[in-house]
Amino acid sequence: MCGIVGYVGKRRVVPVVLGGLKRLEYRGYDSAGIVYHEDGALKKFRSEGKLINLENSMEEAIGAASHIGLGHTRWATHGAPTTANAHPHSDCSGELVVVHNGIIENYHSLRTELVEKGHVFASETDTEVLAHLIEEYLDGDLRAAVTKALSRVEGSYALGVLWTGMPDTLIAARNHSPLVLGVHEEEGGFMASDIPPLLPYTDQVIFLDDRELAVLTAEGATVYSLESGEEVTKETKIIAWNAAMAEKGGYKHFMLKEIYEQPRAIVDTVSGRINPETGSVELPEMNLSDEDLAGIERIFLVACGTSWHAALVAKYWIERWAGIPVEVDIASEFRYRKLLIDERVLTVSISQSGETADTLAGIRLAKELGSKIVTICNVVGSTMTREAHGTVYTHAGPEIGVASTKAFTSQLAALFLFTLYLAEKRGSMEADQRLLLGRELINVAKVIEKELPILQNDIKELIEKFYDSRDFLFVGRGLNFPIALEGALKLKEISYIHAEGYASGELKHGPIALIDKEMPVLGLAPKDSVYQKSISNVEEIKARQGRLILIGSKGDEHLKTITEDVLYLPEIHEELNPILYTIPAQLLSYEIAARRGCDVDQPRNLAKSVTVE
Ligand code: F6R
Repeated sequence: MCGIVGYVGKRRVVPVVLGGLKRLEYRGYDSAGIVYHEDGALKKFRSEGKLINLENSMEEAIGAASHIGLGHTRWATHGAPTTANAHPHSDCSGELVVVHNGIIENYHSLRTELVEKGHVFASETDTEVLAHLIEEYLDGDLRAAVTKALSRVEGSYALGVLWTGMPDTLIAARNHSPLVLGVHEEEGGFMASDIPPLLPYTDQVIFLDDRELAVLTAEGATVYSLESGEEVTKETKIIAWNAAMAEKGGYKHFMLKEIYEQPRAIVDTVSGRINPETGSVELPEMNLSDEDLAGIERIFLVACGTSWHAALVAKYWIERWAGIPVEVDIASEFRYRKLLIDERVLTVSISQSGETADTLAGIRLAKELGSKIVTICNVVGSTMTREAHGTVYTHAGPEIGVASTKAFTSQLAALFLFTLYLAEKRGSMEADQRLLLGRELINVAKVIEKELPILQNDIKELIEKFYDSRDFLFVGRGLNFPIALEGALKLKEISYIHAEGYASGELKHGPIALIDKEMPVLGLAPKDSVYQKSISNVEEIKARQGRLILIGSKGDEHLKTITEDVLYLPEIHEELNPILYTIPAQLLSYEIAARRGCDVDQPRNLAKSVTVE
C-alpha cells in the first residue's frame, strides 16, 4: 500500500521526507516521488522501483534549502508502476501537487468532466483527478478548494496537497485511508500514512478521522470537518512505540495486522465494481468481450496453496450461479496431465504475488492450447497479469506475513464478483438476486470488522487448552470444506502442528480412525443448507471423545450441548460464509503459533513468493 510523508518546519525537507519514506518501505511499493517548494516553484522528482533510484535521481537536491515538501511511495492500483504514474501529481499549471493513498471510485466520470473543461492529464492514475479538481475550484483559498473537490469524490483517500500560493502550508485530508499528523513546537509539522516516519522527531501525534482535513504549518495543525467546514478539536496523543512496533501499527506481528486489515481489503476489492442500484458488476480489466464470455463452455481454476483453496470455494459459486462447469487444479499438477483445453475453455489463475512459478507455467500452457486467460492477482504489473488476457485485481495491499490472510479473503471477494459478473453476462441470475448478493458481499466486511476483536479475545482464552497439541483436524461441508483445508494449512505452516482438513462427510471413510480423546477437531457448522449433516458428523466425533471446537451461528444453543468450546458468528447469507468463517481459523492458528513462540511472520522453510517450480 502506498505511503505518504509530508513535512513543514525548520529542517531541510528532503532528508526528512526521504528518511520518512524509508521507514514506510515495509508497506511495499513500486515507484516513489518527492516534491518540495523552492524559490516560488515546486521541484518534483519521481522514479520507478526502489527509493534508491529516487535518491540517485535527485543527488543535488538532497541539500536543497527548502523547508516544506511531500513524498510518496506508490503501490500501483490504477495504471502501471511507471514514472509517469508515480506521485506527486500536478494540476495543469504545475503549481499545485497532490499525493494520495486510496482509490477514487468515481474517477472515470470526474476525469471525463475535467477533460471536457480543458484539463490535460499526464498519467493513468485516479489520483491525478484530485489535482485537477482542486485546481478547478481554487480561487485563492486552498482549504476551501480541497473541501469542495473532496465533496465530489467517492472512495477512499489519504491526501497531501502543496500549492505555490501558500508556501508555508500543507493540506492533509482523510477518508478510509490512514493518515496521522505529528506536531512538535521546535521541529514543525508532519504528516504520514503511519507512525514510523514521525518517530525521530516527535512523539506527539494527531490521528485524523474520516472526512477530516488538516491545515499543517511549522506552528502546528488545525483540523476541520469536511462535512461542516467547522474546526474540530482533536486530542494530541503521546506515542510510546519503538520503531519496530510502529511498523506493525502496534500489532505484535504483521500477520495479526493483516488479519485486522481484512475488512478494508475486502471493501477496496469490491469498491466501485458493483453498481449499488442495479447490482451490475464492472470488471473492465478482464478484457473479455461479451462474445468471449458467451462462448465459455468450461472454466479451469489454477492456483497453489491458499490461492488454490480460494479456487475450491469459487467452484461452488460459479457452478451454482453462472451454470458453467468448473475444474480446479493445483498448478503443479495441472501442468503434468493431459489437458482437454481449447478455445472454449477459460483458464483463471489465482495468485497473490502473480509470480508463482507453477501457476505461471500453467497459464502459459493453457494459452498455448487456445484458452483465454484471466488472472485474479494482488500485484499490479506482476508477470501473471502481464501474460494473461485480462485481470481482476484484488486490492489487499502488500501482504508481508508469509502466511496469506488478507490476500485470501480478498481473492474470495474478487471471485464472488467474478461469479456475479459471469452470471450477469450469461443471464443466469436475476438482477434482484445479484443486487442482494452484492450487498451481502459488502456486508460481510462490516460483520468481520465488528467480530474481529471479540473473536480474538475468545480464542485467546480457548487456546490454553489446545496450543500444545501434536495434531489437529479441521472439518467442514460444502462451501466450508475449502475453509477447513485453509484453516489446517494456516495452523501447520505457522505453528508446525500437524493439521489436516477434511470434508466432514469423508471422516467415516478413514480419518475417523484418528479420533480419540487426545485429538482436537475444529468443526465449521453454520446454520446453512447442510447444517443437519454437519451436526451429524460432529456428533460422530463427539461419540469417539474427540476434543471439539465448534464454530457456528449466534443463537445456536444446540452446539453448546455438543462441546463447551463454541465460537459464535452472526448469521449472514450462506454464500458468503466462507469469507466470514476464515477469520476464526486464521485467528486460532495465529494465537496458537504466537503462544508456542513461533516466528509467525517468517515460518521456517517458507518464502512469500515461490518463484521456483
Ligand atoms: C499459505 C500461502 C501459500 C500461497 C502459495 C501461492 O499461507 O501463502 O500457500 O498461497 O504459495 O502463492 P500465490 O498466491 O502468490 O501464487
